[in-house]
Amino acid sequence: MAGIYGEYAETLQKVMDQLIGELSDYNNEVKEKTGDGIYEHLLGRIKSEESMREKCGRRGIPQTSESALRVMTDSIGLRVITRFIDDIYQIVTFLRKLPGVTIVQEKDYIRHAKPNGYRSYHVILNREVPYPDIDGRQPGHYYIEVQLRTIAMDSWASLEHQLKYKKDIGNEELIVKELKRCADELAGCDLSMQTIRNMIREEES
Ligand code: GTP
Ligand code: MG
Repeated sequence: MAGIYGEYAETLQKVMDQLIGELSDYNNEVKEKTGDGIYEHLLGRIKSEESMREKCGRRGIPQTSESALRVMTDSIGLRVITRFIDDIYQIVTFLRKLPGVTIVQEKDYIRHAKPNGYRSYHVILNREVPYPDIDGRQPGHYYIEVQLRTIAMDSWASLEHQLKYKKDIGNEELIVKELKRCADELAGCDLSMQTIRNMIREEES
């Protein structure tokens, strides 16, 4: 059976690697100027065959390349983990200016946290690249989902994700409430850390 990404599987990898390279160059540039990188680390993944088929099933759409590349927007996913909140917005500004990039969706779960406490900045890019796409265009267009979070937001999301899949844990209500409290405390720390950095930078200048 052919993979769900069909003949575009290798292109997805190239499109992802290109963006990772650009972000990595940007990180080095900022590091040379300020001494600190703009992000702490960066992860990229092509959504697995299994997850993509499962997601199509959940959405009630056929398990085809069209669904995977034109309906779903997260076949390519990047997660950028920063030390400070401001760095997230600076990276979004950088992404917006990249050649061939159009931002097609933006969700600021930092200014507007989810009710459970989840925080992150999500953007979906539509990128023009010098390869053919599923509509037969060349240059082609590919979606890329980028999630940006601080280390604190990421540690919370990782824990919460793990707990979400543990069924029958009992005390459900209390756990949800405590998780929300932790998220809010971490958010308070992120704000304090940002303030501390701003103070240090003012001293230096
Ligand atoms: P998807 O069907 O997953 O694409 O959801 P959506 O279209 O409503 O998008 P949204 O931007 O809300 O979330 C997409 C992704 O963000 C998820 O696949 C997770 O990786 C992450 N995410 C969103 N909400 C949560 C949350 O409450 N907890 C954790 N741990 N991750 C979340
Ligand atoms: Mg989504």
